[in-house]
Parts: sequence; C-alpha cells; structure tokens
Amino acid sequence: MEFLEIVGGARLKGTIDISGAKNAALPIMAASILVDGETTLHNVPDLADVRQMQLLLTRLGVKAERDDEGVMRLCVKDEMNVCAEYNLVNKMRASVCVMGPLLAKRKRAQVSMPGGCAIGDRPIDLHVRGLEGLGADHDLVNGDVILRAKKLTGTDIFLGGPFGSSVTATANVMMAATLATGRTVIDSAACEPEIVDLAAFLNACGARISGQGTPQIVIEGVESLTGTEHSIVADRIEAGTYMIAAAITNGDVEVRNARIDHLQAVVDRLRRVGVIIERAEQGISVSSSRRLEPVQATTQPYPGFPTDLQAQLMVLLCLADGNSMITEKVFPDRFLHVGELNRMGAMLRKEGPTVIIEGVKRLVGAQVMASDLRASAALVLGGLVAKGTTRIHRVYHIDRGYEQIEKKLAGVGANIRRLQE
Ligand code: EPZ
Repeated sequence: MEFLEIVGGARLKGTIDISGAKNAALPIMAASILVDGETTLHNVPDLADVRQMQLLLTRLGVKAERDDEGVMRLCVKDEMNVCAEYNLVNKMRASVCVMGPLLAKRKRAQVSMPGGCAIGDRPIDLHVRGLEGLGADHDLVNGDVILRAKKLTGTDIFLGGPFGSSVTATANVMMAATLATGRTVIDSAACEPEIVDLAAFLNACGARISGQGTPQIVIEGVESLTGTEHSIVADRIEAGTYMIAAAITNGDVEVRNARIDHLQAVVDRLRRVGVIIERAEQGISVSSSRRLEPVQATTQPYPGFPTDLQAQLMVLLCLADGNSMITEKVFPDRFLHVGELNRMGAMLRKEGPTVIIEGVKRLVGAQVMASDLRASAALVLGGLVAKGTTRIHRVYHIDRGYEQIEKKLAGVGANIRRLQE
C-alpha cells in the first residue's frame, strides 16, 4: 500500500494545470452506450475512477481506450450484457450512470444498488422515479435494480429530493430521454457544470436538449445518436482544492485552465476569508499573505458552495482568526475528516450537520487515514501547512479523483512524496 509523506511549511508558488472533470468524464463515458459509431473524448483525466468506468464499459460491450495524451476512444461492440454487478458498483457509485443509457438503448438495465459509503447513504430512488416516469418497470432482486421498457415515452418529471436536486439522477434521466418518443421536461434538475457538459456532448451526438444549467431541462427525443468528438470540461473541484492549497500556505499560485465562472460560491467564501483571487490569463490566480478571517459556509447544490469542497474549506478555516461554522446540507454525514484533523491539532466540534471550527495557531503533523476522496485531499492540505511531517495512508482514495496530486503539488514547491508502506 502506498502513502503520502508531507513535510509542512512550504509556501506554494507557480502554476498548476487543472485536468478534465472526473464528474463530467464518468457520465459522458456512460453515454457512449447510447451512441452508434465511435466517440472521441479529449482531456480525459488519468484517474482510478475513469479506469473503473472503462472496466465496467468493457463488461457492457463498449471498447474504451485512453492514450497517454488523455484522448479516449469509445465504441459499442456488443449489446448483449446489461448488468453492472455489485463488485463494480460497490467500488464506484458513479457506475449507476450506465442505468439510463442501458435502458434507453438496450431496453433493459440491471444495476447493483449502491450501498452506503464514506460520505453517507447513496439512495437511487430519484433515478428510479425518473426512469419509471419514462415508462420503465422496475424490480429489486437480490440487491440489484432491474429496469425494463419496450419503449420510453417523454413526460414531465420532478426530480427534487429531500436534499435538493440529484446530479447523477439528472444525468440518467436526461440520457434516457434523448431516445424516448416525444418531449421530456425535467423539473428540479441539477444545474452543475458537469450536467451542462454532458448535455453538450449529447447534443453534439444529435440529441435535442435545452435548458441545461437551469432547474428545468427539456429533451426532445430522437431516433438515434451518432459518435462525435468532445473535450471534457475542466475540473472545478480539483481547481478549488488547489486554490485552497495556495491560500493555506500563504502562497501565490495560478490555477491554469480552471473556469472561475464555475467557482463563484467558492471565490465568494475565499474572498471573505481574505484570500486574493483574480482572473488570470489562462485561469485563476490565488494568493494570500495574512491571517485568515473566520466565515460561515453552507453546502448546497450548484451554484451553492459545493459539498465536494467542504472538507478542504474546513482545513483552511482551522487556521482562521476566530470561530467559523460549516453546515453540510447535501451529505449531512460527510465529516469523516473531522476526527483526523483534530489529531493534527484542529479544534473541531460536530453538532449534527454543522461543525464549529475554532481557529488555532497551527496544525501539527501526524499519521492520518484517508477515507472519502475529498476528505483525503483535505488531509493533504493540512499536511502542507502542519508543523513537521504528515503521513496519509490509504492514498488510493485520493487517486480516485486527483491526477498525480503529489507531482502537481511538488511542482509548486510542496515537500511531498509517495512512498510504499
Ligand atoms: C454527484 O454524486 C457527484 N458524483 C458527487 O461527487 C457529489 O458530491 C454529488 O453529486 C453532489 O454534488 C458524480 O457526479 C459522479 P446526488 P451523486 O445524487 O449524483 C440524495 C466526488 O467526490 N439523493 O447529487 O451521487 C443524496 O443522498 C463525488 O467527486 C437521494 O435522496 O449525488 C444526497 O444527499 C462524491 N436520492 C443528495 O441527494 C437519489 O436518488 C445529492 O446527491 C439520489 C440522491
């Protein structure tokens, strides 16, 4: 097993290149199931989750090959298998994104119910509700959701859940509706940039989608979709993570290829903390050289503050001058990083879906355990600024969503190495 060893104290300076977005690449790869002919994707990140989706697609008869330049070519070779089995879905919740495409193209889908995971329950009731609305029958057999439909018919679908919109449920229903007969209107749709990128890909394949990026998406069904070329949008969560890395080390970093328009809620909070953020030539420049102000933040569906940057903001606020508060409204249990950060000298107290963050003078290096992908990235940020050495074990969690994290950080001066246990 590998671990990351970080000696804290370096102020990050220089440029970090942002990769393509994991949460756009995964549904777009799944959408290749809908498409006749070859699809070429550019700017596909080299991540464990992308390799996991390639494995699942291969099992589903889709050839998916990525070259060293980040170009992935996909083509459906065999439509027999429609089953995404437990041992694949259990490793990556995003496997559920094959459900809509399989149902629409192969009229049947069998997907293992994703169980809970490090950030909490991962129900798929909204996915099923939406696909049933299009005309699918559904059964739950031995932990698998089985969906069947002779044909799909467009309809009005409300996709709002107890925690607001659902990103992958919106993706699944939007993908399935592209080949349904007639018009589908999705209300309370997710507005995330990754949904907009998926819609752009589908429209380039011949779909007729409008309203993407707003809570109401309209899809006019078409007969078929044809392969296209598409470049994956930049990863706003990776960008936000490195912006906070620059801030927490009092550094001066340009986060290149990042889209500042996809990070307005993050820029708002970081500026309130006292971080200097400006639009740069090819991205976003971030610098900080003073004590940090405490702030309050609440995670919400886009365009609100992203839950995927909650842990990273929390680490920054550990060093603010006073008490901050973060409330998690998307995944209320997403606080596995709290205990690990307290082991590094943080003063965090969980009160239900809220964490009170008492500012401390410094964090101290420790042996810590990675858990969910973003909590693990937060521990890396803690290690960058902690006094002494931090070792982060189970680093495979980080490799799911961050391409070469130690190379990108070392490239701007961090003292970080990947070692074998
Ligand atoms: C996507 O997950 C992202 N993953 C997550 O990123 C991200 O944290 C999440 O959206 C929220 O932004 C991908 O895009 C692959 P949801 P998803 O459905 O779609 C509840 C990362 O670190 N819900 O938007 O699974 C759910 O429990 C990952 O990159 C239902 O109740 O999240 C949650 O409380 C982690 N019923 C809320 O909605 C459903 O059928 C939002 O979940 C579906 C979801």
